[in-house]
Amino acid sequence: MTGRVALISGATRGIGLSVARLLRLDGWQLSLGIRDPARAGAETSEDHVISYDATSGSENEWVRAAMDRFGRIDAVVCCAGIMTPRNIIEIDDEALNEMLEVNVKSPRRLVSAAWDALKTCGTGRVVILASLSGKRVKSSGSSSYAMTKHAAVAFTHGIRQAGWDDGIRATAICPGYVNTEMARAITDFPPEEMTQPEDVAKLVHLALKLPNTASVSELAINCQLEESF
Ligand SMILES: NC(=O)c1ccc[n+]([C@@H]2O[C@H](COP(=O)([O-])OP(=O)(O)OC[C@H]3O[C@@H](n4cnc5c(N)ncnc54)[C@H](OP(=O)(O)O)[C@@H]3O)[C@@H](O)[C@H]2O)c1
Repeated sequence: MTGRVALISGATRGIGLSVARLLRLDGWQLSLGIRDPARAGAETSEDHVISYDATSGSENEWVRAAMDRFGRIDAVVCCAGIMTPRNIIEIDDEALNEMLEVNVKSPRRLVSAAWDALKTCGTGRVVILASLSGKRVKSSGSSSYAMTKHAAVAFTHGIRQAGWDDGIRATAICPGYVNTEMARAITDFPPEEMTQPEDVAKLVHLALKLPNTASVSELAINCQLEESF
């Protein structure tokens, strides 16, 4: 994978941070979209780090800057996400719009901006950190989030359909609880019994490495027994 270029959102912490670490070890060149680049750690010193807020519509600028730096984009990995634990009846438009913006609309704009570059390389990859909440609605409290994550899974399938002939493959990663700030904020489930972000990163890495002839559209990952996942 040496020399391949990945754009990663949400790499300041949690799953995105683990993904960035693993890809860096594997020789990828990274372009990290971060809300506050001043918070990027020393480990990002060789990376391209750019200001990116998913609610600001700056995806074209990010892609342009990455192309200026590297001249190619092989993969887009969307890890930035938010979870507002409100049910679909109680949530207000503002909170729902923010979740849709960060979890669905900004990833769509980012992939759209990077589309020509992904097509050019012939093996473009898109990985969307969706959720098991994109596969089922487990509770009332998670239902608004689930609505956005179902959209994220549909978005991923849309990318596969649109990009297949040009070698673009897309994977929706669908975990249950992962031991990050997001999950720890909403449940008392023991963090050590959750899926660990480093293990999710291994699956992202796998999805990026597989050849065009081994497309994986969805990966469901769980730390608990459920009927189907
Ligand atoms: N943790 C879980 O249990 C779990 C399960 C299934 C799916 N997921 C999904 O996996 C993805 C990563 O989640 P995580 O657990 O790693 O969450 P996390 O630890 O809370 O990290 C969220 C990341 O998203 C970034 N972010 C949030 N709002 C943003 C915005 N407006 N613009 C740009 N970046 C923004 C954060 O940046 P800052 O540091 O600047 O805030 C941070 O890097 C999310 O899509 C989440 O929905 C998580």
